[in-house]
Amino acid sequence: MREFTISTLVRECQECELSALDRELVEAAKDATRTSYAPYSRFHVGAAIRMDNGEICRGSNQENAAYPSGLCAERTAAFHASASFPGMPMRKIAIAAWTEAGKPEGLPYEEYFQRLPISPCGGCRQALLEYETLHGNMEVILYGLDKIYILPSIASLLPFSFTSF
Ligand code: THU
Repeated sequence: MREFTISTLVRECQECELSALDRELVEAAKDATRTSYAPYSRFHVGAAIRMDNGEICRGSNQENAAYPSGLCAERTAAFHASASFPGMPMRKIAIAAWTEAGKPEGLPYEEYFQRLPISPCGGCRQALLEYETLHGNMEVILYGLDKIYILPSIASLLPFSFTSF
């Protein structure tokens, strides 16, 4: 029997080490958390996608009283991007989140982002991968107050994905 390991390259850095363009994308993801509709989880997620033409498409999680009918920030951003610029490569996605749980009254949300980066759920990885497969590589920037993770592609986040479309 042959064994093999699949590894993922992760680069770790601070926001100040990012290029000006990537900082702008991270700031857009952080700002997008303000548009989140999350009365049930109180977990506010923002995503921002850098398009091939330089534009940024944002999304945030949108919940619903019928829980499964809601949508994560990453898919909201990707569907917004695809609907705004059909067929255009999505070059990078940045993701940020904060939670109301335990947030001291009066503390601005900007100081309450997750300390560690949050990573897209499996369903979002699958949806993002389809755009990556069709239109080219999408880098991933996962924001946390303490550190930022950068991954080279959506595929690197989703080994053994379903790609036979
Ligand atoms: N959520 C996202 O928007 N993105 C993720 O990567 C994980 C989870 C949302 C879904 C739900 O509205 C809330 O966060 C709590 O799970």
